[in-house]
Amino acid sequence: MKLIRVVLPVVLTMLAACGGGGGEGGGSVPPPGGGSSSSSSSSGGGTPQLPAPSTAPSLASTIAARYGSPNYRVGAAVQTSTGQALILKHFSSITAEYQMKPDIVWPNAAGTSGSTAQPAAQANYAAGDAFANFSAANNVGLRCHTLLWHQTAPSWFFAGDTSNPVNYRALVQQRLRDYIRAVMFRWPECYAWDVVNEVATDTANATNPYRTDSPWYIAYSVGGADGSEYVRDAFLFATQARNTMGRNDSNLKLMLNDYNTEVAGKRANVLRIVQDVMNAGTGADIDGVGHQFHLGINADVAQVTAALTAVEGLGGNLVNHVTELDVSIYNDPGNCFSQRTIPPCAADYGASPPQSVLSDQARLYRALFTAFNRPSVTSITLWGVTDASTWLNTFPVNRTNRPLLFDTNGDPKWAFWAVVDPNIAIP
Ligand code: GLA
Repeated sequence: MKLIRVVLPVVLTMLAACGGGGGEGGGSVPPPGGGSSSSSSSSGGGTPQLPAPSTAPSLASTIAARYGSPNYRVGAAVQTSTGQALILKHFSSITAEYQMKPDIVWPNAAGTSGSTAQPAAQANYAAGDAFANFSAANNVGLRCHTLLWHQTAPSWFFAGDTSNPVNYRALVQQRLRDYIRAVMFRWPECYAWDVVNEVATDTANATNPYRTDSPWYIAYSVGGADGSEYVRDAFLFATQARNTMGRNDSNLKLMLNDYNTEVAGKRANVLRIVQDVMNAGTGADIDGVGHQFHLGINADVAQVTAALTAVEGLGGNLVNHVTELDVSIYNDPGNCFSQRTIPPCAADYGASPPQSVLSDQARLYRALFTAFNRPSVTSITLWGVTDASTWLNTFPVNRTNRPLLFDTNGDPKWAFWAVVDPNIAIP
């Protein structure tokens, strides 16, 4: 979740006159003769029309063929209980939006705050098991998210007597080691784990690149110790668990996941943390960076590419994963994400966003999938399947958003067609 997102302040032009809304609702129905968009067309006369949904090729197969990698992972954050046909046709990987996060997997014991010295917390694997079972039954890759995140850290991890800092740190360390081992062993299906999520600070080019308000950072800091060591520990414990599982970096990637890596000042922090893990000297492995890429409609693809090449530049055979891709139809200023009101966030388009915006979104998605076509990028995950279910309808404000490749009916949008067919004309 973004607390701050830095975006170029560009005033949105509300094109109310464009009544097309081609990707919305009945978006699969070709507009009546003459078209419904005022945008220009390059398709030899008429306004380009959305191809029939039944003619849609598999997204994952199309990208795998284009990238020359038959087993390429194109995934989505999904609910395994709904929309299975769409998932199985278009995606070769799934991710749990919340079901594998620590507060779900190992919550505080019922009726406690987790603040007692020996919290009777118990594992709760049922929701995550559903993903692992779905993955195994359907031969879909399982990309696992996340072993550690400050926003979903149950307080039992940090319970204990802080008056003896050495013992306290050892206790917290042991809990982290035990947790990571137990969860990695529970779901050996995972081809990648986001070992840590969002551990970098948002302060551009910070002296201390770590997020200091994380309960992990705070716990490790007790007694004046180095709070950042929990990140190296998490990778060390994940590496040890992976070794014990008989797995390695070719079949189980250990990743650092974060947002705004397309913003240079935040990216610098992320890269320094990756280097800290690479240089830890403890035996901790890190295999790459997960770039969330929650982008706005005016995102700069050159900066997306810069994020990918920066990771390549660190050496060590690091890979890039695109982990939470979506493209908001809005262009919000940075203070939208702290104030979370309209304004400064852009005004709601309502249920039928202008066709011009959906077209801009399609062109951006096309450019992104071109940018992702490089050997270091080995997995792409969208943060959702259809526009009917997306976190961006409530973040940063309650507002209609349409950030994905399939519309609210589950039909392919222009963004989908722009990705799978590099030559198709967009209205
Ligand atoms: C962040 C997290 C995800 C998810 C999204 C919002 O990006 O990494 O797990 O919670 O926020 O849905």
